[in-house]
Amino acid sequence: MKILIIGGGGREHALAWKLSQSSLVSKVYASPGNAGIAQVAECVSSPDAVEADVTVVGPEAPLVEGIVDRFRAAGKPIVGPTAEAAQLEGSKVHSKRFFKRLGIPTADFLVAENREEAEAALDRFKFPVVLKADGLAAGKGVIIAHDPAEAQGALDTLRGRLVVEEFLTGEEVSFIVLSDGRNVVPFAPAQDHKAVFDGDLGPNTGGMGAYSDSRVLTAAETEYILDTVIRPTVEATRFTGFLYAGLMMTAEGPRVLEFNVRLGDPEAQALLYRLDCDLAQVLMAAAQGDLAGARLAWKSGPSVSVVAASGGYPGAYPTGIPIHGLDEAAETGATVFHSGTRMGASGFETAGGRVVGVTAAGADLPSAISAAYAGVTKIHFEGMHYRNDIGQKGIRRYYKDAGT
Ligand code: AMP
Ligand code: GLY
Repeated sequence: MKILIIGGGGREHALAWKLSQSSLVSKVYASPGNAGIAQVAECVSSPDAVEADVTVVGPEAPLVEGIVDRFRAAGKPIVGPTAEAAQLEGSKVHSKRFFKRLGIPTADFLVAENREEAEAALDRFKFPVVLKADGLAAGKGVIIAHDPAEAQGALDTLRGRLVVEEFLTGEEVSFIVLSDGRNVVPFAPAQDHKAVFDGDLGPNTGGMGAYSDSRVLTAAETEYILDTVIRPTVEATRFTGFLYAGLMMTAEGPRVLEFNVRLGDPEAQALLYRLDCDLAQVLMAAAQGDLAGARLAWKSGPSVSVVAASGGYPGAYPTGIPIHGLDEAAETGATVFHSGTRMGASGFETAGGRVVGVTAAGADLPSAISAAYAGVTKIHFEGMHYRNDIGQKGIRRYYKDAGT
């Protein structure tokens, strides 16, 4: 079968890498793709330029714009939610009201239409308080304000309709399922690292690294999340595609921070690396409404993906910087997924904020972390920065007794 991937980041490179290994797949296309994806797929500028047996959508923007509705109207099988269902990610106000209506556990909140209402809402919450822009913001529309001065600063940055919400504490988990509108197939759990600096310091990014380890959620926690969060959502919306619940595991139980209507990035890099079954078959089943009884298999060892970002990211950053050491990184056994690269006159160069995600697995979490960093440290470009502590929350949780 021929598969078309929509998008051109690390998640889409991981999809292309995994799909190109399937014996069922004769051709992988990506639109627009990127320089790394071009190593395993044919990149095309328009998604309408190719005939594929199934299309899978990576990023949120085309989903919110209605690519799934458009493809289905043309009789083309596609994995993703309709524009209407994509509003679960496209509007924070919509998703918070949806959680409330369905009784899905989430942080207490108020909606503010303008600055005046936001000021009034702030009086109702203790500090720290969380302010979220309503629309899509590439992971950068959320500000945690620790005092009134920071809250005022946040209101200067986040204009328009806002959600003001209670600050929750706990560990964050990325829980993703694939749905055909009725049946859901859960992915292994993963943890992202959203803040730009070690120790979760600094502003939020799209994600600086992720790991997947089966122990991130117990079987009972997984069942609870499926029952209280995922199944009610799929039933209410007939959701098709990847549904990603960003959860805070609080002392009172899991709370939904946000929904995404796609695979997470970099979570997808770690997850698809661990996936131990044929992804093409599962995607085709999802597109055909045929996921009943399907389940995914995972390699038992954990996987880790460490993002190398451009100097300045998540703020402004330069592009066109030559990237060195990609081959040396691959020689360590790690896999380098390209997020923001292009082919320049003398080789790969930077073309985005997140540049590559160096991904590896191991028999246990410490060895997976070591394998990923062995790859990262081979790569160099001017201004490159990465977090040194990807996966350390897992180490603290699972290895504290061993003193690792
Ligand atoms: P969101 O886009 O809603 O997932 O928010 C981005 C990040 O902000 C999350 O991954 C959390 O790290 C943080 N965050 C969002 N909402 C809350 C909250 N209510 N309490 C604490 N942290 C939050
Ligand atoms: N890594 C978080 C996201 O994909 O939204």
